[in-house]
Amino acid sequence: MSTTARGLFVSFEGIDGAGKSTHIDALAHLFAQQGRRVTLTREPGGTPLAETLRTLVLNEAMDPLTEALLVFAARRDHLQQVIEPALARGDVVLCDRFTDATFAYQGGGRGFDTAVLSQLEHWVQQSPQGLREPDVTLWFVLDPRIAAERLSQARVPDRFESQPVTFFQQVHQGYQGRCEAAPQRFVQIPADQSREAVWATLESALRTRGVLA
Ligand code: TYD
Repeated sequence: MSTTARGLFVSFEGIDGAGKSTHIDALAHLFAQQGRRVTLTREPGGTPLAETLRTLVLNEAMDPLTEALLVFAARRDHLQQVIEPALARGDVVLCDRFTDATFAYQGGGRGFDTAVLSQLEHWVQQSPQGLREPDVTLWFVLDPRIAAERLSQARVPDRFESQPVTFFQQVHQGYQGRCEAAPQRFVQIPADQSREAVWATLESALRTRGVLA
């Protein structure tokens, strides 16, 4: 895969507490050092409207369909305003979560109908080139019990972070299903190691795929 001729779309996934955030910044830095222009963004969010929807989704009680619709509405705005223009410019787009999180959290965690999620995915992510999806998805894999221990030392939990371990076991299953359906897109990164070891795994996987020079 050429990383200079066209845009590159990389998403970061994993249950809360898996520790993806520091690696997003490090990867952005590395791509920039290699002369790539980087767009660093997140979901839900990435535009003023989508950030407003994020605040609602993370803090307000709502039924599962409303939650799914708001997440996809945020994604639609984010794709149109930020992701598609950035890819058209040839940027590397590093996105903290994307649609796999919807299948994992709303589908796996909440038990919402994944057939409906698939329909929304096709409506929202249609582009002239077909279904817009990440080129590579980095999945930080961590036992939900270890993630829960990490989170218990963190800040005030939002609507998802306050869920019990069983919820995150279902979220994990949701990610597992997405990974099995698109194994060529997913890179699994064991996240129960030191930060340095996680980074080394990530970097070497991206070099092997030709994504990093
Ligand atoms: P997260 O990405 O973990 O950000 P922070 O590090 O600031 O907490 O938080 C986003 C939360 O939103 C996370 O708990 C997963 C949830 N989420 C969904 O439920 N569905 C989605 O489609 C996305 C993108 C996120």
